Order: sequence, then C-alpha cells, then structure tokens
Amino acid sequence: MARLVGGLGSSHVPSIAMALDKGLTDTPDWKPFFDGVAPGRDRVREMRPDVAVVVFNDHGNAFFFDRVPTFAVGCAERYAIADEGWGPRTVPAFDGHAEFGWHLADTLVAESFDPTVLQEIEVDHGLQVPMELFWGRPETMWPVRVVPVFVNVIQHPIPLPSRCHAFGRVLRKAIESFPGDERFVVVGTGGLSHQLQGARAGFVNPDADRAFLRDIARDPGRLAGMSREDYVRVFGSEGAELIMWLVMRGAMDPEVVVRHSHYFVPASMTGVGMLVLENAPLRSNQSI
Ligand code: DHB
Ligand code: FE
Repeated sequence: MARLVGGLGSSHVPSIAMALDKGLTDTPDWKPFFDGVAPGRDRVREMRPDVAVVVFNDHGNAFFFDRVPTFAVGCAERYAIADEGWGPRTVPAFDGHAEFGWHLADTLVAESFDPTVLQEIEVDHGLQVPMELFWGRPETMWPVRVVPVFVNVIQHPIPLPSRCHAFGRVLRKAIESFPGDERFVVVGTGGLSHQLQGARAGFVNPDADRAFLRDIARDPGRLAGMSREDYVRVFGSEGAELIMWLVMRGAMDPEVVVRHSHYFVPASMTGVGMLVLENAPLRSNQSI
C-alpha cells in the first residue's frame, strides 16, 4: 500500500523563481531566505518520497476568470511549464501520475467532493517554486512524480478553510488505498501574508504568519475554523492562499512532528515560509 511520509508547506512567490533564474540566492537580500530553505530540502531528501501531491492555485495562466474550478485534480502524465508573460522558464516539465490522479478523483467523488478532472494543463509559479525549493533544480528530470491539485483562491467564492481541511482527509484515504509501495508527500503552497492590490497593497502581518506556522502543526482546528473573511483580514486578500496548507494538514495525522520551520519577510511584498512535517511516532500506549 502507498504511504504518506510527510507534509510540506511553502510559499510560491514568483520573485523566488526570478532569484533562482538569475543566480541571486547568495545576495544580501536573498541569502537569509535561501539559508533557511537548505535544511528543509535535506529533511525532504531523508523522507525519500516518490510522488508529490502539490496543492496550489493557478494565477490566471492555465484558467482565466471566465472558468475557474473550485477544486481540480491533475490526471495527466506530463505537465508543461506555463508561459506567464515572459516565455516559459527553462525548468524541466513535470512527470505526472495519471493513475493516482484518477484514483484521487474517484475517491473524492465517492466522498462527496466533486473535482474537475484535468487531462491536459500547464502549471505556473504556484507549483514550480515549491518544487524547486524542496528538490532543487534538476538538469533533466524531477526526482518525484507530481500530482497537481488546483484550489480556487483567486475569485469569489473560494472554498471554506474547513472544507480544505476535510479535502485533505480524503486525500489521505486515497493515498492509503492506492495499490503499490510508493512514498507520497503532500505539499501545501501559497502565502504567507500578502496583499497585491487595493488600498492595503503591500500589507503583511508577520505576527500572524508566525502564529500560522506554529498552529498549522499544533492547532490546525483553529485555522480550519476561521472564516474566509478572517483569512483576508488577517493575512491579506492574497494571503488567503494559506487555506491550501490546510489540505496538506488534513492529510496528516492529528499529531505531527515539525522537522523544519522557516520564516522570512519580505520577499517581493510577501511574508514567506517553509514547513516540513512528519506524522508523530505512535506512543507505546497507542495501538495501530
Ligand atoms: C506574488 C504573487 C503570488 O502568486 C504570490 O503568492 C505572492 C506574491 C507577487 O507577484 O509578488
Ligand atoms: Fe500566489
């Protein structure tokens, strides 16, 4: 049976991709951020994952505002790099896992989630940036197969935080009912606090970001119980992307161990974070 070996969280700010593309990771502006990324990458290598389910949002590149699915599952064998206006970046395309994608879609529908099924779709910085932060840039092939899960966080109505958490529980069920012995990680992406538009453009909330990184591990019920309006108010309109980390957290056990946590502000106009979680080992008085 397939296994879930870790839960990862990461911002996906496009300026991180720009810093990687231009070799700026050791410059004074960027070094404090990238220094905190390296240990997270080491922890992921120790997990030896085969497959990454990456929960992210498209930013008007693969879907435009005229058609935005609330939840969508990638069921393709390959995902090309989206052109975000400057031509596609030169990172390799992602090998998918269509068989697991279909199994996930099937499991979700059986549990009363009704995702859109995507057999051909491009992926933008929302997926590319976390992949490169956790796995580095490969010469030719990424070391894991990728299953993208798209969540609408850009156009009202976005899903409830509690619904994202519940989606994660079904994702866990899909992983554990998938035949084979592959090792899965789930990656929640987006955030942390940022607002790119309107009167509060440039808004960040470092105290709330630090509390989020603490409680997504320790007290996810608090974060799942917040309203969508709370997310916009506390984290900014685009900071509401953080509800996607709840999908990752819902897939994990109630008790987790934090293997790595890193916070830096600002990158672009955004608080940025990285988190590596493992399920807590069973205590001797617990049964399997
Ligand atoms: C920016 C874009 C994003 O998608 C994001 O999540 C954070 C920041 C930006 O353009 O700065
Ligand atoms: Fe984003």
